[in-house]
Amino acid sequence: MGTDTSMSTKIDFLYLSEPDMIAAGVLDAARCVAICEETFSLLGEGDYLMGGANHNNHGLNIVFPKETPFPNMPVAGPDRRFAAMPGYLGGRFDVCGNKWYGSNHANTQKGLPRSILTMMLNDKDTGAPLSLMSANLLSAARTGAVPGVAAKHLANKDAKTVSIVGCGPINKSCFTAIMTQLPNVEKVVCFDVFLDKANEHARWVEENYKVSAVGVDDAETGFTNADVITVAASRLKPLFFKDEWIKPGATILVSGPVNTDEAFLTSCKIVYDHTALQEAYVEDAIASGNKEAYYSGVIGGPFYRLIDAGKLPALKDSIGLGDVVNGKKPGRESASDRIIFIACGMAVFDISWGFEVYQNALKNGIGTSLNLWEKPSLA
Ligand SMILES: NC(=O)c1ccc[n+]([C@@H]2O[C@H](COP(=O)([O-])OP(=O)(O)OC[C@H]3O[C@@H](n4cnc5c(N)ncnc54)[C@H](O)[C@@H]3O)[C@@H](O)[C@H]2O)c1
Repeated sequence: MGTDTSMSTKIDFLYLSEPDMIAAGVLDAARCVAICEETFSLLGEGDYLMGGANHNNHGLNIVFPKETPFPNMPVAGPDRRFAAMPGYLGGRFDVCGNKWYGSNHANTQKGLPRSILTMMLNDKDTGAPLSLMSANLLSAARTGAVPGVAAKHLANKDAKTVSIVGCGPINKSCFTAIMTQLPNVEKVVCFDVFLDKANEHARWVEENYKVSAVGVDDAETGFTNADVITVAASRLKPLFFKDEWIKPGATILVSGPVNTDEAFLTSCKIVYDHTALQEAYVEDAIASGNKEAYYSGVIGGPFYRLIDAGKLPALKDSIGLGDVVNGKKPGRESASDRIIFIACGMAVFDISWGFEVYQNALKNGIGTSLNLWEKPSLA
């Protein structure tokens, strides 16, 4: 059988700028929570692939050295890295994708976000690009929607007080998504090491939601008396909360680094975003040759240390949110359970939410079609 030369080999793909992404619905938090819930279900079933031979790597980073003899080579700095996060997601999505970003705290002095992200969706068979999208809003929306799904399944529905710990853009997105699931919130506490950021965040809450909000710059006030706490601080300063600050029935939704008393972690209920992802982190830590240093750099570090010490159950015996969504393992079992949910970020959420926004863009004629080639030169 010869090749069918009448077959079109032309490849076009859709470029979506940030305004295009907004027009195509990237900021629809309730819809994003629904899509991320569907993604958790696929994760629970195993219908996905992420990076690496274990199919569960968060992604691959360029780690900058502390010093270099090369004048142009980037060196290590606060929140400075490049990362690629590839994956395949099954179900009705059935598509591959890769989120790629650079992060540098120094960006903020240039009026730029800390990280600048793009996302590429690709045909799973040919590898052809389907869409290249501006991904800052995409990534923030899915990062927020993940604790939004957790709030739906784990938080007490009558939650009245929410604490926002770390007042950056990611926590605006987390709060927006969480609020789609909690109809009874009356009070919001915004905690940041910088009081002006905390106050700005509180003003934003009051302007956008009919609730009262205050800004604070001490951790104890930030964590105490909250029914739901969303944590998304950067690594600027170590963040720690005490066991006694957390009231019965509280749900802590962790999207950024935080540490706490062993007494809290061994007495609360822990729900991971995906236990196989957490196992891949531990594998990486072992492979790095310096487990302790690796643990210090990842969100799950405090949990992995206690697992290694036999003080918490092994990851394979722990609960992932996909299991809860699929009804295979219990989520909240009593109104007084204290629950901590830990989300480390997964490419599959960028893929599912990116795919949904791409479909919306196609339906509504949004974006710019770009041509890769009419006919490939090297076929
Ligand atoms: N889990 C995920 O999927 C995911 C995805 C994206 C980002 N993140 C993480 O979310 C976090 C927030 O991201 P962002 O872009 O909003 O960052 P950002 O730097 O713009 O804002 C973070 C805020 O945290 C504050 N902060 C730092 N240390 C603190 C401390 N000890 N106590 C209180 N506040 C503190 C900073 O002052 C800043 O206002 C980062 O850690 C980032 O890595 C997680």
